[in-house]
Amino acid sequence: MHIAFLNQKGGVGKSTVALLVASALKSASLPVAIDDQDPQGSLSWWAQNVGQVPLMSNFPEAEVVIIDTPGHLDLDKKGIRDKFVDLIKRADRLILVTEMSPMAFHGTIPMAELIKEYKRPSAKSKLLFNKVRSNTIVGKQSQKALAAQVNISALTNFLPLASAYDLASSLGWKSVVGKDRARVVNLAMEILK
Ligand SMILES: Nc1ncnc2c1ncn2[C@@H]1O[C@H](COP(=O)(O)OP(=O)(O)OP(=O)(O)O)[C@@H](O)[C@H]1O
Ligand SMILES: [Mg+2]
Repeated sequence: MHIAFLNQKGGVGKSTVALLVASALKSASLPVAIDDQDPQGSLSWWAQNVGQVPLMSNFPEAEVVIIDTPGHLDLDKKGIRDKFVDLIKRADRLILVTEMSPMAFHGTIPMAELIKEYKRPSAKSKLLFNKVRSNTIVGKQSQKALAAQVNISALTNFLPLASAYDLASSLGWKSVVGKDRARVVNLAMEILK
């Protein structure tokens, strides 16, 4: 199963969610590998130096492949658009990672459209709310209503803004404990469903 984390917008947490989900699946003893499609290579660096998760190039028989993708994109540029169309066509799960603020959410619309146009009929596309602050006006909005705006349903599990998730990029899975860890495990299982 190929799971891609996407958003045209930068900094929403694609790589962070990718490394968290990869860690949760690895800790459940699933054969998981990383396919880093971001030329910056941050997730490849993390996989080799922090997470000890194999890259797909070293573990081609992996059953679950976590695909990280670049942000800060101009999807109107043909080369970039074509690359994403190819990627969307080969993924089984398309996870559109977004924050809840109006401006961040607005930035997710072009990728949502591209996903709906090119995903395989058997693939599933889902919205994942990340960096949620449930005690703010923005965080209290209905996730269902926001998801309806892009016509892609939201995963039941979302991730709050939490220092453990920020730390995981330098300290790894061991820094994610208790409730924070349970949330990621539940999220990973929901994505696999
Ligand atoms: N749920 C979260 N709680 C706290 N910090 C988070 C969370 N998700 C992401 N971050 C932090 O937000 C920043 C941006 O995250 P990340 O690099 O994963 O975004 P990205 O979408 O991959 O960005 P880019 O488009 O540049 O690749 C990082 O500092 C990361 O640690
Ligand atoms: Mg990234």
